Amino acid sequence: MTQDDSKPLLLDHVDMRKVGTGSGEIISDRNTIIQLDPDHPGFRDPDYRSRRNRIAEIAMTYQPGLPIPAAPYTAEEDHVWQTIWQALRPAQQRHACSEYLDCLDRLSFDPDRIPQLSEVSEKVAALSGFRLEPVAGLVAPRVFLESLANGVFLCTQYIRHHSTPLYTPEPDVVHEIIGHAVTLASKRLAELNRLFGEAVKRTKLREDLERLSRVYWFTIEFGVLREGDHVKAYGTGLLSSAGELEAMHEAELRPLDLEAASALDYDPTHYQAVLFCAESFGQMYRELREFLLRWG
Ligand SMILES: [Fe+2]
Repeated sequence: MTQDDSKPLLLDHVDMRKVGTGSGEIISDRNTIIQLDPDHPGFRDPDYRSRRNRIAEIAMTYQPGLPIPAAPYTAEEDHVWQTIWQALRPAQQRHACSEYLDCLDRLSFDPDRIPQLSEVSEKVAALSGFRLEPVAGLVAPRVFLESLANGVFLCTQYIRHHSTPLYTPEPDVVHEIIGHAVTLASKRLAELNRLFGEAVKRTKLREDLERLSRVYWFTIEFGVLREGDHVKAYGTGLLSSAGELEAMHEAELRPLDLEAASALDYDPTHYQAVLFCAESFGQMYRELREFLLRWG
């Protein structure tokens, strides 16, 4: 499967579960079925929509703590995973930070098929204590972030439409697993995710939640750091997008400044124009940890 590289690649990182609040927040809990937008690549594909609904049912009937039922992926969907892997692997080898690449090795995904959340959750839990739980689709930012405090990452389980393997208008199983689950296998990144959840729980004011959400965006989702002379990604939005990984050096790099990040608006529909770059993984870990512990 090939991809026209003019337009769709531009958006393949997009995480519409953008962590902010707004008056348009209509999804109140983790079990809300998502209506596809007419612009969604799968909108006119009844088979895709019924498969997504079946996968959403898994999340809606899921009882936390029990094994996650397997999602019924088709050969076509496994092929989407293969296509994404082929694009991502070389980009990650060049641009992913070593903490990420170590975790990726430990999780050892099959490049030929979409891994089931249950198997990934088990492996991640053995390494860092974090678990994955399925959700039907977008969840309210506060629900999503607060679950991190309990060491739980809420994951979508469907995969993007096969017509656009390198583009998704929403988080899908590729972003969740190749981005978030891998980073959550790192003890230090898992700790930072937990601290975000705890900080959100202590946050009452909407404007403070927005500030904290921006810090999450510019670190966990789109953070970069220096390794020797190179700039490498530790942010999940970058790590799950071959297009944006290759383009990240075109962004304006600013020194890691969490106060500044908390005040900077971002556009989730385009490659990020500004990235905050830590001097090292250790500096990022120490500064973000201190920031989150002090929060509130
Ligand atoms: Fe994400």
